[in-house]
Amino acid sequence: MFHYENDRLFVEGVAVAAIAKAYGTPLFVYSRAKIESNYREYAAGFGQRAHEICYAVKANGNLAILDVLARLGSAFDIVSGGELERVRAAGGELNTVTFAGVGKSRAEIDLALAAGIGCFNIESAFELDLVSAAAVAGGCEAPVALRVNPDVDANTHPYISTGMSENKFGIPMTEAVALYRHAATLPGVRVTGVACHIGSQLTSIAPIVDAAGRVMTLVEQLAADGIDVEHIDIGGGLGIAYGTTPPPRIADYVAAICRAIPEPYRIIIEPGRSIVGDAGVLLTRIQQVKTTPAKSFAICDAAMTELIRPALYQAVHPILPERRDGVVRRVDVVGPVCETADFLGRDRDLVVDSGSLLAVADCGAYAAAMASNYNARPRPAEVLVDGADVHVCRERESVSALFAGEHRLP
Ligand code: LLP
Repeated sequence: MFHYENDRLFVEGVAVAAIAKAYGTPLFVYSRAKIESNYREYAAGFGQRAHEICYAVKANGNLAILDVLARLGSAFDIVSGGELERVRAAGGELNTVTFAGVGKSRAEIDLALAAGIGCFNIESAFELDLVSAAAVAGGCEAPVALRVNPDVDANTHPYISTGMSENKFGIPMTEAVALYRHAATLPGVRVTGVACHIGSQLTSIAPIVDAAGRVMTLVEQLAADGIDVEHIDIGGGLGIAYGTTPPPRIADYVAAICRAIPEPYRIIIEPGRSIVGDAGVLLTRIQQVKTTPAKSFAICDAAMTELIRPALYQAVHPILPERRDGVVRRVDVVGPVCETADFLGRDRDLVVDSGSLLAVADCGAYAAAMASNYNARPRPAEVLVDGADVHVCRERESVSALFAGEHRLP
């Protein structure tokens, strides 16, 4: 969906240069076709197997993206009351929402109960009691799965690994059976499943199969105890290539999960990055090329405020020049923010001139969603390309909006 025609970069049927001219930079540009093909690969992988694809809203919660996915029949995985409201505003089904997260507040639990969500993924004994009390007070019943921590090393960046015993997430396997027994006696909750999530940007299949195996052992122990679950939520996590070795294909990943979790259990999966990650670029204009005795820098109008992943996780995103014809130079691609950590890419060989455009690839996930206003920088606009059409799906933030809720002293 992102390709060159006569050495000029296109997104679907539209030239990136034309998009930048019309909507300005920095700009997030998404491809509807790519989002849809990623989603469809998941759906096709499950085929007739009972399943639910719960797109992880945290990866990119823009209403247009949720809308595209809702129209394909996607369900949603949320981690806050705010994300629930995004799903509602985008017209998503609420009764198939799964709610994860280690620190759900009582207000968020009440909101989710009133919305009639599909499942609470419970992360502690404290939270189980909290959900039970909220449901009793509300005169309803909460469907729950306990999120267990399978103690599996996902072989990913330590900041996005979640399924090891030293992580804050989930309930230790050794405590799971006792907590399920307790859940079975609690008013206001109905045990429906087991959940786990071992981490993000997984680049091999083995850890998720290992986790699924451990979860199935627990399911058998529970069954022996007379506690039957109906679904297994295996979490999200499949990685994308980021210009290097491609991770497993969605189809192969899903097939392995389907083999590891036998019928008749319904499989819930919570992909975020692998649905939207490679469906977006961050478009930025080079302000100037600065050369020092040590290095050359392409100083762009996008910064760590739009893409924090290189600074936070040492992530490497491919960077594509808008036009490929020209003199290639080795540069650090940096932003205007006052931090040395403010770089989009280092030591890249690119056609760079002041005023020319670069597209930072693989910015559909965890880019706009993690954007900040540091240095009083308004967040960029976002557009969704659909064939020959370009839809503004988020307007550029105004500077006045940045301090609209602030007050000087009386
Ligand atoms: N389900 C749960 C419970 C999660 O915690 C996550 C991600 C997902 C699903 C979706 O995972 P995905 O399919 O997108 O890998 N900001 C980081 C990633 C943080 C992921 C947090 N949890 C990054 O930019 O790499």
